[in-house]
Amino acid sequence: MQYKRRLKKGPIIALGIFILAIILIIMGINMYKHYTSYEYKLGKVGYNEKEISKLLKMDKKYIDYALEHKYDKNLIPLISQKYFVWKNYNDYVKYMKKAYTSKKVNYKETVTLVNVKANYDPYTHTTKTNMKDGLAILVNKHYSLPDKYAPKDIVKMSNWYSYDGNSVRKEVYEAFKEMFNAAKKEDITLIVNSSYRDYDSQKQIYDKYKRENGEEYADEYAARPDFSEHQTGLALDIFTLGTNRANFEDSDGFKWLSKNAYKYGFILRYPKGKEDITGYSYESWHYRYLGRELAKKVHDSGLTYDEYYAYYLDKE
Ligand code: DAL
Ligand code: ZN
Repeated sequence: MQYKRRLKKGPIIALGIFILAIILIIMGINMYKHYTSYEYKLGKVGYNEKEISKLLKMDKKYIDYALEHKYDKNLIPLISQKYFVWKNYNDYVKYMKKAYTSKKVNYKETVTLVNVKANYDPYTHTTKTNMKDGLAILVNKHYSLPDKYAPKDIVKMSNWYSYDGNSVRKEVYEAFKEMFNAAKKEDITLIVNSSYRDYDSQKQIYDKYKRENGEEYADEYAARPDFSEHQTGLALDIFTLGTNRANFEDSDGFKWLSKNAYKYGFILRYPKGKEDITGYSYESWHYRYLGRELAKKVHDSGLTYDEYYAYYLDKE
């Protein structure tokens, strides 16, 4: 009897210890997993469950950022914006602090404006545009051409296509001629009113506006020299015979261009309602040549070229 009891007790104790050890190990592993999990660590920083579940679906670099910084209620709403650009993050935050002290925070607008540098006053933080972009170069109040830039392949336009004295880059001329002929087939006669303007002519226009109406007015309607698309030889002011700045928008020519210009490589550069983004008053006549492929992409995106460039061509 005694022998039998001793035989049973030993293995039972060993088994108990073994099970306890397993339980402790499992508990230890679980605790380790919990304390090293993103959920726990992000929670410690201050993110709530909903925010954490959103962050966990995002790129790891955003999670790392969240872990390395103080809790930031703007982080997730900003990253979730369609046109969010990571390198602009600090500028978004700064812009929101400055611009929305009294207003409700609008993340979409913040991302749009900061992407196109509209968080800065025009001409205060300018950089030279990247000429390697070729036909895609961005020229606006924040990106300038090289000093006194002049393209090499400027050709004179025939008076068949333009009012007297116009010239443009050769490739643009060829594209315009094709567009002109296509419009002509539909009884629309396009005519170029202004095209390539060298540094001095752009300066003359800007200075005249400024002299007659002041700097604010001048900056709304004309670019400063070295900041004009006209100086690139890639921009055309297009009307139809007999129309002008005041009524071109109501013409069949404008309707035709709105539907077809991109097919020939042109986009409307300063659209209505996008003045805060482009920095210019609406110009129904100013078309920028980008080449067919890019013009289609920009057209399909529904973005201004400033926005398109910031998000698709200059993101990293
Ligand atoms: N009117 C356009 C903005 C220019 O002067 O280039
Ligand atoms: Zn123009």
